[in-house]
Amino acid sequence: MKTTISSLEKKHFPVMLDEVIQTCLPIDKNQLIIDCTFGGGGYSQELLKFSNIKVIALDRDIVAANRARNLEKSFPSKFTFYNEKFSNLDRVIKKEKKPDIIIFDLGLSTFQLQDYSRGFSFKSNENIDMQMGLSDISAEDAINSLDEKSLKLIIKILGEEKEAGRIAKNIIKARTLKRINTVTELVQIIEASKKRNYNKKINVCTKTFQALRIFVNKETTELIEGLIKASQLIKFGGKIIVISFHSIEDKIIKYYFTNYSSNRSNPSRYMPTENNQKYSFFEKYKNNFITASSAELLKNPASRSAKLREAIRTDQEFIYPEEFKEKFRKYIDIENVVI
Ligand SMILES: C[S@@+](CC[C@H](N)C(=O)[O-])C[C@H]1O[C@@H](n2cnc3c(N)ncnc32)[C@H](O)[C@@H]1O
Repeated sequence: MKTTISSLEKKHFPVMLDEVIQTCLPIDKNQLIIDCTFGGGGYSQELLKFSNIKVIALDRDIVAANRARNLEKSFPSKFTFYNEKFSNLDRVIKKEKKPDIIIFDLGLSTFQLQDYSRGFSFKSNENIDMQMGLSDISAEDAINSLDEKSLKLIIKILGEEKEAGRIAKNIIKARTLKRINTVTELVQIIEASKKRNYNKKINVCTKTFQALRIFVNKETTELIEGLIKASQLIKFGGKIIVISFHSIEDKIIKYYFTNYSSNRSNPSRYMPTENNQKYSFFEKYKNNFITASSAELLKNPASRSAKLREAIRTDQEFIYPEEFKEKFRKYIDIENVVI
C-alpha cells in the first residue's frame, strides 16, 4: 500500500518540541524567529501561538513548501516561507530586521523518510533518489558514476563505515553487470559486503545510506555555511539553536560554538592569539547540550540520537571564520567531488 501524506501527518513528532520552545523563551512581542528547517512545521506552528511575533521558515524540500502554504494562509502577517537552502539564509533575511532566534533541526523529516518514493529508507523498493530538494544529483547518479576510490571515501568518511572498501568494490562490480536503480538492489550489495555488524542496534545499511544522503545533499557544507550565515545575520544577544542527529554534525556544531565563544582557547596553532577576541561570536560556551526526555524516547524513537545545543551571540562584529571552514575542509572536499 502506498503511504499517503495524510497518514504520515498523524505520525509526525517534532523532535524535542517542548525543549526547543523552552530554549526560545522568553518570546517577546515583535521578535523575529527563523525556522531554517520547516519540515512538518511542528516548531513553526508552536511558535506562531505567541502573539505579535514573526516567523520566517525555510526548507529545501518542495513538498515541505506545499505544507507551509497552508500556514501562510492562516497567518498572513506573521508567517512567511521560502523554498531555499539554509546556506542561503542571507537571501531571505532582510537587512532592516535582524532575527532574535535562528533554529536548525537537521536531517530528514518523518515525511521524507517514510515516503518510499524518495528512496531514503532501506525499506523502500523504489529508486535510490535521496534528494532532499535543490540538490544537483541523486544517489542513483552517485553510485553509478563515482569511481571506486571516491565511493569508498564517501562511505568511510561521511558514513563512518568500517567496511567501506568492500562495499565500494561490490557496488562497482554490480554496476558492470547492470545499472543499480532500486534501494533493494543497493541493500543486497551492502548486506553481502558486510562481514560483521559492529553495532547490533542499527541496520547494516544505516551507515552507507547516511553517507550517500549526506553526499547527495552536501549536508556538512550546508551546516558549516548555515552556521556561519546565522552568526553573521542574527542580532547581538540573539540565540542560535541547533538539533543534530549524528556525530559529524555534532562535532561541527560543538567546535564552532566552543572555539568561537568568549571562553575559547586558540582553535588553531596557525591563528595568532590576538585573534581570540575578534572571533568571540558567542557568549561562554561550556559544551552543554540537552537530549530528549525518556517520555519522548518511548513515543518517538527517532529522538534517541538528538542533541540540542544553543549559543548566544555577543556584540563582537562578524568577521568571516575562514579557519572554521578549513578545519572541516575534509568533509567539504568529499561532498564536492565532481561525478
Ligand atoms: C528534521 S526535519 C525538521 C522538522 C521540523 N522541525 C518540524 O517541526 O516538523 C528537517 C527538515 O530540514 C530540511 N533541510 C535539511 N537540510 C536543509 C538545508 N540545508 N536547507 C533547508 N532545509 C533543509 C529537510 O528537507 C527537512 O524537511
